[in-house]
Amino acid sequence: MEYVLTATKNEAKAGSYYDKIARLYDLTFKLNGYGRSLDQYLALNPLSLSRGSRILDAGCGTGLLSLALLRAIRFPVNITALDLSATSIVEAKKAVSQSAGRPQDMSFAQGNVLSLPFPDNAFDLVITSGALEYVPLKDGLDELARVIAPEGHLLHLPCRPTPASALLEILFRFKSHSPRAVLQNTERHFRVVHHYRFRPLEIIGWSKSAILAQKT
Ligand SMILES: C[S@@+](CC[C@H](N)C(=O)[O-])C[C@H]1O[C@@H](n2cnc3c(N)ncnc32)[C@H](O)[C@@H]1O
Repeated sequence: MEYVLTATKNEAKAGSYYDKIARLYDLTFKLNGYGRSLDQYLALNPLSLSRGSRILDAGCGTGLLSLALLRAIRFPVNITALDLSATSIVEAKKAVSQSAGRPQDMSFAQGNVLSLPFPDNAFDLVITSGALEYVPLKDGLDELARVIAPEGHLLHLPCRPTPASALLEILFRFKSHSPRAVLQNTERHFRVVHHYRFRPLEIIGWSKSAILAQKT
């Protein structure tokens, strides 16, 4: 699979890599309780959404975050799930159609988080987890901010540099950004609503946190 039109050679590497390992990624993150932790987080911190809200899952991978969001909300929404990796998108589509979720709420696009194929202010909410670690942080957050409508939200689950994430960095070939850089760059466009720490008993708590921010 080539990504000539949408990504530089360096960015395309991540897409090609996930074309090879999408199933391994999906299995690893199913076994480590990621979905359950997302369910708990979303139950404790309901997002401000309404019928028909326009949502982008940027770097959707195999769809785990979108699926958690669909489990958390009972009304119809429009989620666009975007990823560089065609294989990941195929897996995400399969997961949505096999789940008790709502396939009609989801559409899919192949694309690059650094040059999103959407106009300014196109979404009420952007969710992203584990994708900005593959791109320069400032450029990624600038591009996500561009497509979020004024007062819309960003839900970002960055990877924190920890011993657990060091292992994931090797396995999945990414680089965590420092928490300070994440907050500083987020605050260039957004007001941070909360910074949630998963409990240490949850495996993703060893490497991830959740930042909800509102576009100013
Ligand atoms: C660690 S996985 C996270 C997947 C999903 N968000 C989740 O929470 O399970 C990272 C995903 O980011 C995608 N990705 C990496 N760089 C990207 C880019 N520049 N544009 C779009 N997707 C990208 C990869 O293809 C991969 O599917």
